[in-house]
Amino acid sequence: MSRPTHVTLYEVGPRDGLQAEAQIVPTATKIALIDHLSQTGLRFIEATSFVSPRWVPQMGDAGDVMAAITRAPHITYPVLTPNLKGYEAALAAGAQSVAIFAAASETFSQKNINASIHESLERFAAVAQRARDDGIALRGYVSCALACPYEGRVVPEAVSEVTLRLMEMGCYEVSLGDTIGRGTPGDTQRLLDVVLKRTDAQTLAVHFHDTWGQALANILVSLDYGIRTVDASVGGLGGCPYAPGASGNVATEDVIYMLNGMGIETGVDLDKVIDAAWSISDALGRPPRSKAAIARGR
Ligand code: HMG
Ligand code: MG
Repeated sequence: MSRPTHVTLYEVGPRDGLQAEAQIVPTATKIALIDHLSQTGLRFIEATSFVSPRWVPQMGDAGDVMAAITRAPHITYPVLTPNLKGYEAALAAGAQSVAIFAAASETFSQKNINASIHESLERFAAVAQRARDDGIALRGYVSCALACPYEGRVVPEAVSEVTLRLMEMGCYEVSLGDTIGRGTPGDTQRLLDVVLKRTDAQTLAVHFHDTWGQALANILVSLDYGIRTVDASVGGLGGCPYAPGASGNVATEDVIYMLNGMGIETGVDLDKVIDAAWSISDALGRPPRSKAAIARGR
């Protein structure tokens, strides 16, 4: 067992969380959320996506969000970039870290980014080349790492292949996403057994949605494989507009509560994240989805 003593939390609430909201969230609310999260000790806050506003209208204000947030010098504010157009816009908005997002399932790739896996990797290679030239940090995602909303079970070998391709392009880290939150710890083990044959745990992150309530258990298993970066979303916000049935990401505060109890450091203040969870939930007009925020209360 090689459980880490320190875990890096990669906050995805303002992006993966808010992108799934059916009603357009005011830009000021997004900015307030990111600024609030900047006060919690988080070092990575994925702020928005430079995707097509026709595909994801909720992220149509990406430039305005990036322009107005108060950036703390020790915090990275990555953004999603599906192609060179998005990359250029992200760069113009002052992004210093971008994320490309491939899938391990053909149907999801088509539905989410209108490209086969092969085509998408070619697009991403162009973005990766530019990021390398410009000195911009590049992260990768592999969606449908455990299951696909259209194809069902996804074989670990397919995930491993896409992961390697993203790493070869220069991703400093690849996040394995259970996009629809269906995988169990058994699935996570089978995935990591295969992926870790060809990659190092220190270059992987895990990204669990909690649809079936398996996310914390899956994170625990991942820690035992030496994974030390965990994606999470304040208040358990989240979902993917192109993944029917996907519910929120694992809540940041639930992950912190578990890690605190295990003596694993995150550098992130549980109470401050719970405060942020209540603030955004109030703004959205519903209670937080996380156990920790409900348990502590306001
Ligand atoms: P497309 O329609 O094939 O794009 O979409 P296109 O290149 O043919 O261009 C069509 C139009 O879109 C053109 O405009 C382009 O300029 C414009 P027109 O000339 O017709 O007026 N366009 C753009 N506009 C702004 N920003 C851009 C951009 N690109 C093209 N970047 C595309 C292809 C990839 C753009 C589209 O499918 C897209 O934006 N998809 C993004 C979907 C998305 O954001 N999904 C959620 C994120 S993934 C996720 O949540 C999973 C994750 O959390 C991990 C997990 O949970 O597993 C990461
Ligand atoms: Mg996600």
